[in-house]
Amino acid sequence: MTGDITEVPADAVVNAANSRLAGGGGVDGAIHRAGGPSIMAELDRVRPPGGCPAGQAVATGAGALPAKWVIHAVGPIWRGGGRQEAEALASAYRSSLRLAAERGAKIVTFPSISTGVYGYPVEKAAAVALSAVAGFLAAGAGSIEEAVFVLFDPGTYSAYAAALDALAERGAQR
Ligand code: AR6
Repeated sequence: MTGDITEVPADAVVNAANSRLAGGGGVDGAIHRAGGPSIMAELDRVRPPGGCPAGQAVATGAGALPAKWVIHAVGPIWRGGGRQEAEALASAYRSSLRLAAERGAKIVTFPSISTGVYGYPVEKAAAVALSAVAGFLAAGAGSIEEAVFVLFDPGTYSAYAAALDALAERGAQR
């Protein structure tokens, strides 16, 4: 769907964070603004020393958001594609789903991690994101019943719609 992820009810909302888990612009800024200061206060308690590397995630409560948890996932900064960006991006999605499933979340919402400030080309990122999430769900997702991408602009939505069609096509050919 298109929309503002801070307004969509979910059990777990995934954030596109930075390694310092320090807040920022984009969806990270929107989540902290809408969720309120309790999210940063909790991050200050649970933040791993040295931060959270790309490909990993940290969970907190969701403050005033219509959700129970925020999963702060760190995507890779795009550096041309030869620096294992795809592996780190897939890992950010899988780590988020693992943390959500450990908490018993049923509905998980995702933004398009890394395709804003971090510069990951959206067509490439969409394919990686959808196959990582579909792979996790196909392998037995525990409590998770629904994974929803909440995409902010029509261009990002089109890229994910095309990547989903391509993924379904490949599945049908198998
Ligand atoms: N709801 C859904 N999607 C959104 C929203 C929203 N409210 N706001 C923005 N987006 P970005 P990144 C989209 O830059 O590339 C931050 O400063 C946005 O249009 O938020 O992973 C962090 O602190 C884009 O499609 O995340 C990090 O330093 C997508 O969310 C850094 O940016 C991701 O864009 C992370 O960069």
